[in-house]
Amino acid sequence: MGIGKGYGKTILFGEHFVVYGLPAIASALDTYTIANVKVVEGNGWTVDDQRPATPGYKKKKKDEAMRSIQNVIEHLNIDITNQKLEITFKGNLMAASGVGASAAQCTSLARAFNDTFDLKLDDEKINKTAYEGEKAYHGTPSGIDNTASTYGGLIWFIKSLSGSKNTMDRMKASKKMHLVIANSGITASTTEVVADVRRLKEENPEKFEKIFKKYKIIAEEAKVALINGDINKTGTLMNENQNLLREITVSGEANEKLVDIALQTGALGAKMTGTGRGGLVIAVAENEESQLKISKAIETKGYDAWKTMIG
Ligand code: MEV
Repeated sequence: MGIGKGYGKTILFGEHFVVYGLPAIASALDTYTIANVKVVEGNGWTVDDQRPATPGYKKKKKDEAMRSIQNVIEHLNIDITNQKLEITFKGNLMAASGVGASAAQCTSLARAFNDTFDLKLDDEKINKTAYEGEKAYHGTPSGIDNTASTYGGLIWFIKSLSGSKNTMDRMKASKKMHLVIANSGITASTTEVVADVRRLKEENPEKFEKIFKKYKIIAEEAKVALINGDINKTGTLMNENQNLLREITVSGEANEKLVDIALQTGALGAKMTGTGRGGLVIAVAENEESQLKISKAIETKGYDAWKTMIG
């Protein structure tokens, strides 16, 4: 039996913009998905998905999940005609929109196959395999989710638009940041939202060019703020990033509500993270006390909230 792990992630800056070659900053979470692979007699493969999940998430993503497993198997040329693979997913990462659940699943599976069949894949190859799996979830993934899931830590990521190697720099924040992650409970389709943004961009290229220019400045300032441990500035920049996400229509009603609750309870900044139109919101808190206050306020309104440290 082989085993593999893939971390969840949160995008601090740059979801959607990253698809168009703009820089983004993501952090891996300390929660992860574990894949187990057992080889038995027979052929084909089965999957038992035991991950904790937002209600409705697994059902909505089922077909994509099945395709992504098949993509990973094909990419690694694993024989399923003379042996049967029994795949199990578990772990403490809540499968929800925005937390990199699909990437964590693909990464953990790539690592589990590596372990089972002693494939000797390095992290670069694991990342590439997870990216192939991610394609089933959204046709044109930027690659940021699988990269964060594979390498962990805080990363500065730029997708190469020419097909050459993406840029991935590990960052070290000089101060850990208290983060609250709030779950709207709504599962969004990344494929649909990314395609809709592309359509809006094609309809109004000038508007998007202006937004992209503003975003690029935010990303560069955020990199400096994080490295310097300037939490106030990081929060302000998150709010500015959120304004731009709102302009490109990916921040849904539930996202806005969660952002408001966080800001009204003292968050230094708050924004949606990941696909948007549901999914998750992140909020930066000044300290542990404030983090607790924000998460309690969110829970009081009937949403799940998780507390984590990043940096
Ligand atoms: C999804 O977690 C992030 C998006 O930017 C899509 C991508 O980067 O592939 C919306």
